[in-house]
Amino acid sequence: MTAGTTQVGIVGAGPAGLTLARLLGARGIESVVLESRSRDHCEHRIRAGVLEQGAVDLLRAVGAGERLGREGIVHHGVSLQFAGGRHRIPLSELTGGAAITIYGQTEVVKDLIRLRVEAGDPLLFEAEDVALHDIEGDRPRITYRHDGRERELRCDIVAGCDGFHGVSRASIPAGVLRVSERDYPFGWLGILADVAPSSEELVYAHHERGFALLSLRSPTLSRLYVQVAHDEDIGEWPDERIWAELQTRLGLPGWTLAEGPILEKGVTGMRSFVAAPMQFGSLYLAGDAAHIVPPTGAKGLNLAIADVELLGEAVAAWYERGDRSGLDGYTEACLRRVWRAEHFSWWMTSMLHRLPGGDPFDVELQLAQLRYVVSSPAAATTLAENYVGIAGRRA
Ligand code: APR
Ligand code: PHB
Repeated sequence: MTAGTTQVGIVGAGPAGLTLARLLGARGIESVVLESRSRDHCEHRIRAGVLEQGAVDLLRAVGAGERLGREGIVHHGVSLQFAGGRHRIPLSELTGGAAITIYGQTEVVKDLIRLRVEAGDPLLFEAEDVALHDIEGDRPRITYRHDGRERELRCDIVAGCDGFHGVSRASIPAGVLRVSERDYPFGWLGILADVAPSSEELVYAHHERGFALLSLRSPTLSRLYVQVAHDEDIGEWPDERIWAELQTRLGLPGWTLAEGPILEKGVTGMRSFVAAPMQFGSLYLAGDAAHIVPPTGAKGLNLAIADVELLGEAVAAWYERGDRSGLDGYTEACLRRVWRAEHFSWWMTSMLHRLPGGDPFDVELQLAQLRYVVSSPAAATTLAENYVGIAGRRA
């Protein structure tokens, strides 16, 4: 057994873990990041792509703003489509100038990994059998295997940034966590296509055959989704069927959806999930390890970054001034924003998807709500404030 020590042991090299590592490094706090997958795997997982201004600001502050500034695409509006019409929600006009930036989570992760590696700070890929020990006290340990060797890392604090299926949340003793969750009886089939996006801004479409979303990754790459069953077999979806369904759900007279080679496709289930408290002893959970939102509000990545902004500050206050208040109040501070995003994501999801087993009453309620959102400045502002993230920051 090879033993090592650090100040903060970070489990998981997703946006949460990598951003936290940068935040801590900027304050002179040492960390070791342990990631179970390979670097190649982490850098090629296709995930979300909408950043709130607060997330962009934080990534800039930790030095990860250079390519983001060059390649990120700033959007000032999104559209809702239903009943044969497309309606723009002018996000910036409604929020005193706030905007969103389109930049793939995959790119955020690549940038953060490169920074960490260039700085020569410890980031271990393919760390196997990561296990947490003694987290109830103030001398936690993390054991793992790397390069065929059993290792132990002693630290002051463990940051559980290992996503929904990680080991961190599962290390908290039974009975401590309260879980609130909702499963949705549908999923999204997503594609990345080598074709210029047919709309400059995102289009969220309500359609009798189910939800569809037009998004993008760059001026030459489209990202599109259609609502499918939660356990949909991707094998049932040859490319022609995907395009035909997208054409039907997103089509409008006088507008065509351009098609191109599909580079990647996959199905994701949808779920809302919150585990509280987000801390136990010297373990602090951040991002998907503690909470999941359905993707309809584009909040997952932003919540992960917002959590570690708080956690980084709390850890720094403790090391620099012995002030534990940020650490002690971490759960409460995070959960206010988390629940705002949980509500928003659930609301967008419920308003836009075809509900299996739903009846005409459900559909009329959705359409009434959609008409209200696009016709009332008050209702549109509610959507806009949540979408750009200022509602969450105020929560
Ligand atoms: N040991 C070490 N690392 C692990 C383990 C483990 N046992 N289990 C999982 N991991 C790693 C994963 O391989 C992944 O790289 O933890 C990382 C978690 O990263 P994410 O899942 O991206 O989670 P997070 O950083 O919280 O970011 C949330 O990701 O899923 C999206 O919609 C979500 O956009 C949101 C974002
Ligand atoms: C995406 O581009 O992947 C995306 C955009 C908006 C969402 C979800 C996903 O709400």
